[in-house]
Amino acid sequence: MPAPVRLTLPGIEEYTTKHTTLDSADLCELAAETLRRSDRPHMMIGPVEARFLQFLLFAHQPKRVLEIGTFTGYSALSMAEVLPPDAHIVTCELDEEYAQIARRFIGASQWRDRIEVRTGPALATIRDLSGTYDFILLDADQPHFPDYLDPLVDLLSERGILAADNTLWSGSVLDETDDRAGAEGIRRFNDLVTAREDLTSVLLSVRDGLRLIRKR
Ligand SMILES: C[S@@+](CC[C@H](N)C(=O)[O-])C[C@H]1O[C@@H](n2cnc3c(N)ncnc32)[C@H](O)[C@@H]1O
Repeated sequence: MPAPVRLTLPGIEEYTTKHTTLDSADLCELAAETLRRSDRPHMMIGPVEARFLQFLLFAHQPKRVLEIGTFTGYSALSMAEVLPPDAHIVTCELDEEYAQIARRFIGASQWRDRIEVRTGPALATIRDLSGTYDFILLDADQPHFPDYLDPLVDLLSERGILAADNTLWSGSVLDETDDRAGAEGIRRFNDLVTAREDLTSVLLSVRDGLRLIRKR
């Protein structure tokens, strides 16, 4: 993942963070531990996007949630905080070390029965899933985002929402000459979604770009 670049006016991200309700104590602790233990803490969706997704989930009340890209568990735990009592999250992570950190924090939280971490390449993991999901967060493996579109749309319930993160890829979506795998994967994914007449979507310039997609 390239180093994040500033997509908004200087100071705007700090201002929006300051005027967004603070994370819960559990999430603050996990974010602090992630800052200490990882050289890529910017991979967490961060407090503003997390709170935005919480608003969406609070209104939508999904029962079955799927996440591609657990990292240390920040987004999964954040989503769990606003789900209805009988909801369940399956979250997929490739890296065993990150999955262990996530499992530790999830296990110590009040949401331990709500979140299941599955390790392995997510494209293989989702092939084994059955049933449909009311909310899906795609937040990993950006070079292969296009490969996730069909399987994830198939897994989406009729009123489900697919949220694809990093869909501005630090602004490199604007640079057709940027041939890095992540930039190409994101541009191709965005074009594929736009061309699908069976999907309705909006690309929000929240943080690194958040694309919300649903069946038409
Ligand atoms: C951007 S981070 C996810 C951040 C997390 N959603 C959060 O907000 O805290 C992406 C994660 O996906 C994992 N990953 C990368 N490729 C993957 C793959 N093919 N299958 C599953 N996980 C993958 C990485 O190891 C990394 O932990």
